Amino acid sequence: MHQYKVFVTRQLPASLAPLEQIAEVEVWTEPQPPPHTLLMEQAIASDGLLCLLTDPIDSAMLSSATDLKVVSQMAVGYDNIDIETATHLGIPVGHTPGVLTNATADLTWALLMAAARRVVEGDRFTRSGQWNTWDPAGLLGLDLVGATLGIVGLGRIGTAVARRALGFDMHILYTSPNPKSPELEQELKARRVKLEELLAESDVVAVHTPLSPSTYHLFGDRQFQQMKSSAIFINTARGSIVDPAALHRALSTGAIAAAAIDVTDPEPIEVTNPLLTLKNLIITPHIGSASHATRKKMAQMAIANVIAGLKGERLPHCVNPDVYRQSVREER
Ligand code: DGY
Repeated sequence: MHQYKVFVTRQLPASLAPLEQIAEVEVWTEPQPPPHTLLMEQAIASDGLLCLLTDPIDSAMLSSATDLKVVSQMAVGYDNIDIETATHLGIPVGHTPGVLTNATADLTWALLMAAARRVVEGDRFTRSGQWNTWDPAGLLGLDLVGATLGIVGLGRIGTAVARRALGFDMHILYTSPNPKSPELEQELKARRVKLEELLAESDVVAVHTPLSPSTYHLFGDRQFQQMKSSAIFINTARGSIVDPAALHRALSTGAIAAAAIDVTDPEPIEVTNPLLTLKNLIITPHIGSASHATRKKMAQMAIANVIAGLKGERLPHCVNPDVYRQSVREER
């Protein structure tokens, strides 16, 4: 019988053995996320929670879970967790930065190139029997070499996307709350601009900012109107950064040429959503980090975070390090 109890909200692509050495571990084995009431009960009965971005960890849950010592999310983003409440309660929250940077940047580029050269449309065209001849004006797309790439949020993933663009001699514009170092700007040949300028100048706009109250629906009608009508919009960050109705209007009226998104609002997207009828939109099911090696590393990091939290050690990757400075933590 172990001292600690941990609830893991899905089967993970890594061994739980290191965690099982110190805790009684219960894994939710269904393919869908656990229902909220069950998650609440488990949180209340647990010392540690290892969760996914599909699990809403809200204020009521955190406040009721008086034994909870750590919440460990298997993702870099953590907008599903009420961090303010967790911090206030002295509960450290772990996440998995860094290990998914390359996988997500690769998927961003896969979508970018697929949209620029109309790969998915071409595949549908072929399968539907419309390929009757070589057409000099058929399925024309955008040349990427020498084009301008606007990166909204030059963090880890935005930077990795920009590095890949160097191979295409692209001009990089970026927005960021703070300027990046002159060395990085020089390496990427990147220039920090205001969002309006980025939208007006870019041939491709790629979103790499976290979801927060200030980025919720950052892209609406006005932003799409400010873009070139030939522009391509890419989002591999979070669906709610974009107003989906505005994206539909932009793509169906020709305000922008095409889009490719790995994230939607809501997620998963309903099969009746009008966005799914658009030819000039590619949608993948939130697979930015979905490579074998990356998902394994993410799971291992999440396990390491939960183990550290149970032992009362500092999490290797903590979202809210303020918990280590709070007296409320000592009281728990
Ligand atoms: C994350 O980590 O936040 C991605 O969205 C899923 O890998």
